Amino acid sequence: MSYQNLQIEEKDGIVHLTISRPKALNALNGQTLSELEQFFGNDYAERNDIHGVIMTGAGEKAFVAGADIKEFISSTSDNGGAILAKRGQDVFFLIERFHRPVIAVIHGFALGGGCELAMACHMRIATEAARFGQPEVNLGLIPGYGGTQRLVQLIGKAKATELILTADMIGAQEAHRLGLANHVTSDLEAGVAKATEILEKTGSKGPVAIEESLNAINAYFSTSGFDAEVEAFGRSTKTEDFREGVTAFVEKRKANFTGK
Ligand code: CAA
Repeated sequence: MSYQNLQIEEKDGIVHLTISRPKALNALNGQTLSELEQFFGNDYAERNDIHGVIMTGAGEKAFVAGADIKEFISSTSDNGGAILAKRGQDVFFLIERFHRPVIAVIHGFALGGGCELAMACHMRIATEAARFGQPEVNLGLIPGYGGTQRLVQLIGKAKATELILTADMIGAQEAHRLGLANHVTSDLEAGVAKATEILEKTGSKGPVAIEESLNAINAYFSTSGFDAEVEAFGRSTKTEDFREGVTAFVEKRKANFTGK
């Protein structure tokens, strides 16, 4: 399949996947989610000859700035909010359950669905310019692509609760200190080089052992919390606060929440 919003390049058994919608800071619209599904669920699902995937975002500003807020308005009516969250979660499970390691190299913003995408990857390398956050509450919303679950898994309940409830952003060093980033590098090139070094190492091991290690690591985590997140996301998209939050973003002003 040809991709519109993903750039794919293979080099020495490593697949370089770049999310490319730079004008929207690589925000995940429906088309991009479909392409990720196509890549991880079909085109590369049976590719046993590769060592792994390195995921980056196009441009200097962002890895991925979140789900596409401008698409939200049309896709969250009726039960659309829960359906949207479930769809994103399902695509991200394809990444988490991929048979080879997937490493995200984060340069610039990884916010909302972008931070959740990075967390669905098996490892994360942050450049000094990386900024992580779950800013959904600014939109009268909650994280819906697995963020409430994976942030807790990676950094623990106390800090995850603080980041989700305050919408605070953190830089690369703090992400590393908390365990969200495996390594920090000076720039994108160094980040990709570090990810390549890791994949060359994992690629020299028994492929079945790599795949089964990933299976067993994933089995440690229960999925019931993800279902609770889908329901809570769906409820939050039915509020006036959500409509106000999204409208305020589009109009580039501060939201005025009423709690309804
Ligand atoms: N969706 C759609 N468009 C987005 C976007 C997003 N998530 N993030 C940025 N953009 C667009 C902006 O609207 C802008 O477009 P225009 O040029 O047409 O106005 C363009 O990208 C550049 O962005 P800014 O002008 O805002 O750039 P900035 O440097 O001033 O700010 C930013 C950068 C702080 C990342 C800011 O863009 C921002 O706050 N973005 C939204 C981040 C966010 O809230 N993400 C969470 C989304 S909800 C979610 O992901 C839910 C979930 O869990 C599934």
